[in-house]
Amino acid sequence: MRALRLDFEARRLAVADHAEPAETGAGQVRLRLIECGVCGTDRGVAEFEFGAPPAGETGLILGHEAVAVVEALGSGVSRLRVGQLVVPLVRRNCGPGCAMCSRGRRDNCLTGEYVERGIFGLHGYLCDFAVDHEDDLVPVPAELTDVAVLVEPASVVEKAWELALRLHPGEPRHVLVLGAGPIGILAAWCARSCGFEVTVLSRESEDSARAQLLIRNGVRYTQTLDGVGADIVIEACGSAALAVESMRVLRRLGVVILLGARPAEVRLPTLDMIIGNHILAASVNASFHHFELAVARLRSYDRSWLRPLLHRLPLAQAAETIVHPPGAAVKIVHRISD
Ligand code: BGC
Repeated sequence: MRALRLDFEARRLAVADHAEPAETGAGQVRLRLIECGVCGTDRGVAEFEFGAPPAGETGLILGHEAVAVVEALGSGVSRLRVGQLVVPLVRRNCGPGCAMCSRGRRDNCLTGEYVERGIFGLHGYLCDFAVDHEDDLVPVPAELTDVAVLVEPASVVEKAWELALRLHPGEPRHVLVLGAGPIGILAAWCARSCGFEVTVLSRESEDSARAQLLIRNGVRYTQTLDGVGADIVIEACGSAALAVESMRVLRRLGVVILLGARPAEVRLPTLDMIIGNHILAASVNASFHHFELAVARLRSYDRSWLRPLLHRLPLAQAAETIVHPPGAAVKIVHRISD
């Protein structure tokens, strides 16, 4: 089958021929991949910043934002049927099966010995076929086919949003999202659909397509922190410095959630944080429950909020776009089959 394979020995990323996944075992299903989105994590893996091939192999198939159709069922599969549209979870339980993994919260794994499809130790989904356990697959209604590739990033947002609301001890109303990439825009839609006042801060000019998309749909857009006040800040821009700077507009009891800030030396405004009862937290990955919330949330949105985010290209171009994403597109999605 075709696969976007990162070779950790030859240090090469290319679409190449790859062995099909092993036979479908008990409880497993065989998937035919429809499409797979790419993100900054894929870039980090492709540039060997993090990530690892499966044990005993030198190559890793990339891709973790997948949409697939169930093609065949192994014995004992009860929840899924052939032809069902699904989105796979990214993370798989840690070896010892810690207290979090064994109660369905592998996104909060305690040991760090988990594996992640397309990232750490397991092949991903930028390929024709995959095999997964039915418990790792989230059913998606067919009506969501054209935007289902956003379920995985939206699940990351759902987890962060749930955390922010749980941590804030008061009555938050204003949300500031840092960054207008896919996670930032999905976070803005999520907070907006929950009735919050939302501001997105990003570097693109106000007449850029993504700023206009936000503004048209009731989100305030800014390139500076001037005049902004926030109860919740969702960092989705990669900048620790900006996340910390945003704390100067954080109201009392405010919560900042880091999602993508790169390691950096920053100076925390600890006195203001203490006096303001501020909470600085971080979040990664998502559980089955968050994937289900993401499916429901995406269903509730007007498609005009989502369709402009997606830019589809053939699988053959994946090696190029992961490393050099075309500028204006918000989310690059590689088509694998129809
Ligand atoms: C994925 C998460 C994953 C994280 C770190 C993100 O892009 O959405 O599921 O846990 O990368 O590997």
